[in-house]
Amino acid sequence: MQRSKFYVTTPIYYVNDKPHIGHAYTTILADVLARYHRLMGVPSFFLTGTDEHGQKVCRAAEKSGMSPQEQADSTVVRFLDVWKKLEITNDDFIRTTENRHRIVVQKVLQDLHDRDEIYRADYDGWYCVTCERFFTEKDLINGKCPEPGCGRDVEKIKESNYFFRMSKYQDWLIKYIEDNPRFIQPDFRRNETLGFLKKQLNDLCISRPKSRMSWGIELPFDKGFVTYVWFDALLNYVTSIGYLSDDARFKKWWPASCQLIGKDILTTHTVYWPTMLKAMNLPLPETVFAHGWWLSGRDKMSKTAGNVVNPMDFVDKYGVDAFRYFLMAEMSLGQDASFTEDAFLRRYNADLANDLGNLLSRVVKLIGSYCDGNIPPPGTMGSDEENLKKVTLIAVEKMIDAVDGMRIDLGLAEVIGVVRETNRYLEKTQPWTLGKKGEKAQLGTVLFCAVEALRIMSGLLYPVMPTQTIILRKTLGLSSSVPDFRDLKEWGKTKTGTKIGAMINLFPRITPVTKDVVMKKGVNMTETTTAEKSPGVTEQKQPVTVPAGVVQIEYMDFAKVQLRTAVVLSAEKVEGADKLLRLQIRVGDENRQIVAGIALHYKPEELPGKNIVVVTNLKPAKIRGVESNGMLLAASNEGVMKLITIDGELPAGSVVK
Ligand code: MSP
Repeated sequence: MQRSKFYVTTPIYYVNDKPHIGHAYTTILADVLARYHRLMGVPSFFLTGTDEHGQKVCRAAEKSGMSPQEQADSTVVRFLDVWKKLEITNDDFIRTTENRHRIVVQKVLQDLHDRDEIYRADYDGWYCVTCERFFTEKDLINGKCPEPGCGRDVEKIKESNYFFRMSKYQDWLIKYIEDNPRFIQPDFRRNETLGFLKKQLNDLCISRPKSRMSWGIELPFDKGFVTYVWFDALLNYVTSIGYLSDDARFKKWWPASCQLIGKDILTTHTVYWPTMLKAMNLPLPETVFAHGWWLSGRDKMSKTAGNVVNPMDFVDKYGVDAFRYFLMAEMSLGQDASFTEDAFLRRYNADLANDLGNLLSRVVKLIGSYCDGNIPPPGTMGSDEENLKKVTLIAVEKMIDAVDGMRIDLGLAEVIGVVRETNRYLEKTQPWTLGKKGEKAQLGTVLFCAVEALRIMSGLLYPVMPTQTIILRKTLGLSSSVPDFRDLKEWGKTKTGTKIGAMINLFPRITPVTKDVVMKKGVNMTETTTAEKSPGVTEQKQPVTVPAGVVQIEYMDFAKVQLRTAVVLSAEKVEGADKLLRLQIRVGDENRQIVAGIALHYKPEELPGKNIVVVTNLKPAKIRGVESNGMLLAASNEGVMKLITIDGELPAGSVVK
């Protein structure tokens, strides 16, 4: 479908807690969609933000001893940091506590109240704080919240409130959904909403008396109340783009092209939101797309189960591009998907290290060895070359369809299929043999075609892996700016004679876990070999010992870490932190203070005199407000922790290497 503009939104996230993989997934997906559209020359706007009002945030604030605004201000930074790290290119970030949002919410409320779309009545029902949703007695399942996946306790509410006349739009909404199959996607979610609409809709309670909960936007027509959090939050999608403040801008972007949500917030987005828009006389978004959930193995992720994936940890360990790629390739949009480190490593090694990374290394090595590092001119295209060209150009079309049909996973499978095909093409045409035999014309054809396939595939992968694909393209002598999509649709755009860059290992292979051999710091170590050497690749085939799930590093990386012996002079507890001890240590002739998480394993009085090992060039940090100037090393296994100490006499400050 040719679009004239693309406006994509994510849900706005509650600031009651730090970002997790669910937030990261939707936001990366929106980013990938926005980047694809921009690449294709479609003007795009990408909105994300935070939902800062409501009881849930209020309770989190109470727990952490902050005001709700302080809670929001401190948590929003964590979201902004993660989005930066994940290379998210949102055009706006909206916070519902901003004035620009409050003004619009109040104008909408006043208008709806003036037109009798909102009225006052008594409310007698139940409330789930986690879902921030009202329920009637009949809705509850065994007296608990009926939302799929929730099932938590609900609270009884009996009070005078304001209501939005949602029920009067029920028949209209059913017809709208039936007439507009693209409005709710995937199809089975549309059926879910239609199923929900078989029951009589109630009017929507849209206020909370301040006497019970004052953290929200005040009703403009009754100062005793604040707005119900969902009524406030949903409006973010129109306030950001200028509703009631900048008509031209609003007209440019509304209706949204794609509103991404998780399956748990389907009702709010496909029942509350469209009826609100109808009452406001606004058109509905083209598509509300509900994706599935990431599970930890087969289990739901939850704080209580302690299995929630923190996106930051993964990115630090494996890099942002690999993380983005895994999330996009692994989840078939709409369905639940399982996140495990094993699955991650399998896909990383197969698609990125073995296929893509290996193809680039081969091509760079061969052009370096046989063509003085310059991309050679092609000779005559034979049937193998025509086939490679054909599958490459088909993949471009399939990726366009995949983006339009919300099946990024299928588009990526197509691209990696072409990368594999190119590797097979090299196996078949044997450029290393052609090089050795001096068959220049044929060698030129093969290497030129391989570069072409890589040029086009790297362009298609760019929205998913914006950093590594640019490095890849620079290595091929292409410009470091965003690829031009028109060039990706054309075979033969590579300029012959271009100097290529140095050999680079874009995605080093990570050796997967096999149990046994050595156990260190709770991590399985395994004796294994690096990947089988392929012709044209200079990898060393040596036995190595690699910790599970750890990227191998160069000696120079290790050499950056300064390790020294130190003697502990004194130790004491850090107030208010059960696990921390404050240590005074001597390193050479320098005294330092470090904070270490060893209080559950060592009493302060056990430490003075111990000769320990410390990282001495770590940037100073404040831990619980206490300055720490270095980090000691300790080993742990199954809850037992032991300090790394020196076997014998050496002066404090000796180099450890
Ligand atoms: N504030 C509301 C949304 C208001 S939009 C006008 C909200 N916030 S949330 O922070 O609780 O959740 C945001 C999103 O995270 C939801 O779309 C939810 O589906 C998603 N996820 C939460 N856990 C998830 C997984 N384990 N996997 C994938 N997404 C999940 O709801």
